[in-house]
Amino acid sequence: WPLIVRDVEAIERLKKQRNAVVLGHNYQAPEIFNTVADIVGDSLALAREAVTVDADVIVMAGVHFMAETAKLLNPSKIVLMPDMEAGCSLAESITAEDIRLLRQRYPGVPVVTYVNTSAEVKAESDYCCTSGNAVKVVRAVAKEWGVNRILMLPDEYLARNVQKEVPEIELIAWKGHCEVHERFTPQDIRDLRENHPGVVVLAHPECPPEVVAAADYAGSTAGMADYVRDEKPARVVLITECSMADNVAVNHPDVEFVRPCNLCPHMRRITLPNIRRALETMGHQVEIDPAVADRARLAVERMLAIR
Ligand code: 13P
Ligand code: SF4
Repeated sequence: WPLIVRDVEAIERLKKQRNAVVLGHNYQAPEIFNTVADIVGDSLALAREAVTVDADVIVMAGVHFMAETAKLLNPSKIVLMPDMEAGCSLAESITAEDIRLLRQRYPGVPVVTYVNTSAEVKAESDYCCTSGNAVKVVRAVAKEWGVNRILMLPDEYLARNVQKEVPEIELIAWKGHCEVHERFTPQDIRDLRENHPGVVVLAHPECPPEVVAAADYAGSTAGMADYVRDEKPARVVLITECSMADNVAVNHPDVEFVRPCNLCPHMRRITLPNIRRALETMGHQVEIDPAVADRARLAVERMLAIR
């Protein structure tokens, strides 16, 4: 505890000195999420908030694609990544060249890419989406482009889960998976229900479709937090990265959280000491080639314009 307090105090001091804010994803460890993070939320909320922050410096307590999105939307601000190695298996699963080849194979089919991708991949895309708005985005794109086929990349499971909601549109998927969510199985859900009678099961749409089908609700990290706030289940399990339950549980002492634990190794790379170091040294700064950034920004802005 004394070490945590010392880091938190130093970070608060440095934030004032540098006119910096810390954006914290819902998967961040509680000692970051509940202390130094000024703005917290899911990927969609962090992207939206990144546009409005009144600061010179943004520190991303999240993974690299989230920092890139913040930089795309704030080209004149300094965006710091406490650990550049904090990546994402989905972002790793597809390259800009893959998208160019897919466009040749499916001429005229719009490309919607998940925000969990590199700026280079976003630059080859027509629209971005997050787990919080994927259904809305594909419906809007189909209507705007007058098409009934969309390339939805790179998360195979997100595409298949969204497909169930939009039977009128054919979603062509890629083969990327989240290394955290792909580990959950329908048997896990059956075991949870047997061992914890009455438990309400909430799942992230990056889980395999059979897992989502076995759950009571599927939604983004913010969607799951809102479900607990609104429905107040007596007993709940979040089928997602396990720091999330720690963070949501803080606000709901009356709810019993069952906590299986799958951690995201990339999210875990962000620590109080490296957030402090980032603000002390002003490293590591996220830079995006301006030619790439201009095109990638368009895909993100088109997504944000869909309400
Ligand atoms: P959300 O957009 O739901 O916060 O998800 C981000 C993510 O990385 C999930 O694994
Ligand atoms: Fe990527 Fe999965 Fe980690 Fe989210 S939980 S950052 S999708 S690897």
